[in-house]
Amino acid sequence: MNTTLSEGEALVQAILATRKTLPKDVEIIFFTPHTHLWLISGILNGHYQLGAQDCSAHTAGAYTGEVSAAMIASTGASYTLIGHSERRQYHHETNELLLEKMHQAFNAGLKVIFCVGEPLEVREKGDNAAWEYVEQQLRIACKLTAENLTSLIIAYEPIWAIGTGQTATPEEASRMCDTIEQWSKSKLKLDGKMLPVLYGGSCNANNAQELFAQKGISGGLIGGASLKAEDFLSIIRSF
Ligand code: PGA
Repeated sequence: MNTTLSEGEALVQAILATRKTLPKDVEIIFFTPHTHLWLISGILNGHYQLGAQDCSAHTAGAYTGEVSAAMIASTGASYTLIGHSERRQYHHETNELLLEKMHQAFNAGLKVIFCVGEPLEVREKGDNAAWEYVEQQLRIACKLTAENLTSLIIAYEPIWAIGTGQTATPEEASRMCDTIEQWSKSKLKLDGKMLPVLYGGSCNANNAQELFAQKGISGGLIGGASLKAEDFLSIIRSF
C-alpha cells in the first residue's frame, strides 16, 4: 500500500526512462496496487509486464470492495501475486482460499506468483522445520493442472525477512529455493521440469547480486527497494 497514483506513475516513468540501457534478458514485472493498474498498463505499453498484488477468490457479483481476476486482466495485466504473507497474516487467507484465488486467476488467463515462507519461530528450529512449513503451503500446487503449472512461479519469502532489513543468508535462501525446485520436479505434473523460484525479503541493491548468483534462485520479488527507482534499477542490473 505504497504510492498515490501520481507517485506510482513517476516511479514507473523513471524506470522506463532508462529502458534502453537495461539488460534485455531480464524479465521485469511491475506489481502495482489495483488503483494503478490501468494507468501503468498504458505507460508500460507492452514493454514490460504488469501484475496485481492480489485477486478475489470470487468470479463476480456482490462482493463489495473485491477485485476479480477478470477485472485485473481487463486492465492489460497478465500476472497476480497470491498468498503474500501480509495477506495470509492480516486477512487470514487460508490455503483453501488461496487455491480458489489461483483457480480464478488461471481461468482469467493470468499467471500467478505464489508466495510461501516461514515465520521466525519456525526458522529458529532449523532448515527441516522451515521446509516442513513451506511444503505445507506448496501442497496446494498438487491440485493444479499441468496447464496451470506452466503459468506458476513460486516466491520464497521468509516472513522474518520481509520489510525488516534482515535478509536470509545467500546459502539459506539457496537451500530453500533449491529444495522447492526439486520438490516441484518430483511432485508436480511438470514433465520433469521445475517451477521457477524467486527469493524475496529485504533484497536490495547491496545484496541482490549475491542472492541471484545462488543455485535455485531464478529472480527476486522486490518490495521496499522497488520504491526507489535507482535502487530497483541497480537490482535489475545486478541480475
Ligand atoms: P521487502 O518486501 O523487499 O521490502 O522485504 C518483499 C515483499 O513484500 O514481497
